[in-house]
Amino acid sequence: MSGVLKQGIENDRPKINAKTAIAKKVDSLLAIMTLEEKVGQMNLYNGFWDSTGPAPKEGNAKTKYEHLQKGWVGAMLNVRGVASVRKIQKIAVEETRLGIPLLFGYDVIHGYKTISPIPLAEAASWDMAAIEKSARVAAIEASAAGINWTFAPMVDISRDARWGRVMEGAGEDPYYGSHVAVARVQGFQGTDLTLPNTIAACAKHFAAYGFVEAGRDYNTVSIGNETLYNTVLPPFKAAVDSDIKTVMNAFNDLNGVTATGDQFLQRDVLKNAWGFNGFVVSDWASVTEIIYWGQAKDKAEAAVLAANAGCDMDMEGHVYIEQLANMIKADKVKEALLDDAVRRILTVKYELGLFDNPYRYCNEQLEKEQIGSVEHHAAALDMAKKSIVLLKNETKLLPLKKKGQKIALIGQLAADKNSPLGNWRLAADDDTAISVLEGLQNHTNSNSLTYTKGVDVFMGKTNFVTEVTVNETDATGIKDAVKAAKNADVVIMVLGEHGYQSGEARSRTELDLPGLQQEMLEAVYKVNKNIVLVLNNGRPLALPWAEKHIPTIVEAWQLGTQTGNAVAQVLYGDYNPSGKLPVTFPRSVGQVPLYYNYKMTGRSTNNEGNVFWSHYIDEKNTPLFPFGHGLSYTTFKYDNLTIDKKSVSVDDSIKVSVTLTNTGNYDGSEVAQLYIRDVVGSLVRPVKELKGFELVHLKKGESKTVQFTLGKKELGFYNNKGEYLVEPGDFEIMVGGSSETVLKSRFVLD
Ligand code: GLC
Repeated sequence: MSGVLKQGIENDRPKINAKTAIAKKVDSLLAIMTLEEKVGQMNLYNGFWDSTGPAPKEGNAKTKYEHLQKGWVGAMLNVRGVASVRKIQKIAVEETRLGIPLLFGYDVIHGYKTISPIPLAEAASWDMAAIEKSARVAAIEASAAGINWTFAPMVDISRDARWGRVMEGAGEDPYYGSHVAVARVQGFQGTDLTLPNTIAACAKHFAAYGFVEAGRDYNTVSIGNETLYNTVLPPFKAAVDSDIKTVMNAFNDLNGVTATGDQFLQRDVLKNAWGFNGFVVSDWASVTEIIYWGQAKDKAEAAVLAANAGCDMDMEGHVYIEQLANMIKADKVKEALLDDAVRRILTVKYELGLFDNPYRYCNEQLEKEQIGSVEHHAAALDMAKKSIVLLKNETKLLPLKKKGQKIALIGQLAADKNSPLGNWRLAADDDTAISVLEGLQNHTNSNSLTYTKGVDVFMGKTNFVTEVTVNETDATGIKDAVKAAKNADVVIMVLGEHGYQSGEARSRTELDLPGLQQEMLEAVYKVNKNIVLVLNNGRPLALPWAEKHIPTIVEAWQLGTQTGNAVAQVLYGDYNPSGKLPVTFPRSVGQVPLYYNYKMTGRSTNNEGNVFWSHYIDEKNTPLFPFGHGLSYTTFKYDNLTIDKKSVSVDDSIKVSVTLTNTGNYDGSEVAQLYIRDVVGSLVRPVKELKGFELVHLKKGESKTVQFTLGKKELGFYNNKGEYLVEPGDFEIMVGGSSETVLKSRFVLD
């Protein structure tokens, strides 16, 4: 055995030994578990009473409590706080026959108590280190509150801005989404799961949830295998290759098979082909919903279908706990499959160190120290400012002058301390975001700053489970806005969506500014054209009027706790915006789904001057703002695009380099992007695909050579049988600061 190979195994030996040791413990425990105790491990209950209070005396909660005491619960969700977690863990560990500790899961999607930007905003930073740090902070705070499992990262690719959950992922591109997935998994799980500040992560929703028909949440999904393999699956595979501990299946069906009951997805692909060794958890009651989909006639059939398909844990479906033991006895589900599921679940608990110390995550001192710490707020601010995308700055209204300017700040969202927290901020207290108004006031008082709410947009209080009420009729606030804008040097208008207008169950049929905001924007524009439009939104918006008329547009998403400070730092130029769009912004909702890596079609242009080409008679095909777009206060130049060989064999790789220069007056960061086009393939290939990016910081006047490497991992694709092909032929290379790149070259793959 060669030295290197031997050395490699030596390095891995401790991990191999640890896994072997855990496997032995799991098997020993499994051997003494009753059938009901095994099924109990596959049962995940939502927190069912005010856990620090007395035990529940009746109803559903009483049943759950009794199951807990019998050892028939494997995990809980939505229980948080050391006192609550300790109380419930104590029952599982000290009052049941085997004392198997519980997992405590929670949706730590973009922060726990200190809220970071929504995931789509974080993805706009293209800063993997910052994204990993953001997940790390979330894990530190969540684990300090007793949580040892997060239902994140959501890695669903989506091309449909109507779908509310586009806010929760990393956008439309599988290559980029895979990188973000890895950063988030590493942030949550760290390098040692037995540490008390690392938690198990969960890649969701497996699979293709982002392709729900018409962008309507929970709807059906019909896509071809080529899209499944090349667009949907890569981020999940990246998460599995990063040793993610759990995967959550999806509410949707995939081509007629419910994802929760889909053996092809959960066993053939995930567990067998990819070797995933963690466990699969259902989405909320998605096992029960197999019945509503019409793929099982009752809970017994749903239990059989889901268990045989590889769904290891039933979240709040009450199906496994009620039916699975009987289905095993009826030989409809093999006990070997049950053992496999339980083995997977117990292994994660051992890997988290819960058997060594079930109260590992119950440290009241840590809870006091870590949650909301100064360091965490600093990390949230850093992430927030890096997530901001400068979409337009035509007349250089930005950066604002440090003094002597009369600034009129307008918009209900500008003073909102709740909406900027976004959607998945369950543990955050209401109104804990620093608003844009506060951020500007904190930043400087050297300019005169007036604030006017303008038109009412969102009425009343909203929360995670209620719809947002939008004022569609009362325009009285517009005149105040116009009056405030009249004599200002600069008007900053903060417009957009409420944080609860995107996220789960928040699909929209329009992508405009809700309510009367557009009317207010146009009214203000009539009296003052020096408008900086700051967008707060959880999805791409279609704002063609604004794009045409408003000189400066800043995409500020929902940036979390540090919103106002981040926006102020960018508007005043203390941070030079560096974000780039991870999603395409359409001109119209009618163009959706619209994405950069589209296919050419056989009629992409009207060469003959007739109508017979792929277009709309009432809209352009092009986006409003393309994938990868983002400006800076400085300018960057790309030149000297070179490749080290004009032809390359399939087993070789090609080096691409480009010189990037900061040609402007500010130091700044730029995301250099590399796209390829496989000009002719056995399947139709996209006109371009992102296959490399690098975030580069350059002082003004500074240049740097940016290098990319292309090999079979980047040049191949999956066919409809799931075979990975790297096919000889011509390839184009495109490099620049967005998907509408500037420099091109070609090579031949032999
Ligand atoms: C929700 C979501 C899922 C979440 C789970 C637990 O319905 O679909 O993403 O993790 O239920 O809250």
